[in-house]
Amino acid sequence: MAKSLLVIHGPNLNLLGSREPHIYGASTLDEIDASLLGLAVAREAQLRSFQSNHEGALVDRIQQAAGDGTDFIVINPAAFTHTSVAIRDALASVALPFIEVHLSNPYRREAFRSRSYIADLAIGTISGLGSAGYRNAVAFALEFS
Ligand code: DQA
Repeated sequence: MAKSLLVIHGPNLNLLGSREPHIYGASTLDEIDASLLGLAVAREAQLRSFQSNHEGALVDRIQQAAGDGTDFIVINPAAFTHTSVAIRDALASVALPFIEVHLSNPYRREAFRSRSYIADLAIGTISGLGSAGYRNAVAFALEFS
């Protein structure tokens, strides 16, 4: 069966392209998602993307992944990375392999960004590479078994 990837973007990432481009880059979220879909399609895999500014909606989407055929999650929880026990618990509950992605390198920024509530559950974390981080995560996920 074709591999199925789920890419989840947290709050304010819908503003990519105009949001602090010196930190997050010039690409829009639609451009990033289209590029990730291209990688998946080239490998005959399925890729779905989801963005929300709401913690509960992100929890609901993670829970849904347990029953919708998702094999692997790539997630940038954005600010919720540093605050959300609920997103951590959802990822632990579904027990799907995932990679944590950040466009910026949180360790080079304010101290509060150095804590991730999900990093110890992740297969790995990619940060500071801009949108290439998502592409690397998807490339890894396509190989992962
Ligand atoms: C981010 C880093 C977070 O600290 C921040 O709150 C974001 C985006 C990133 O992709 O670099 O919204 O996850």
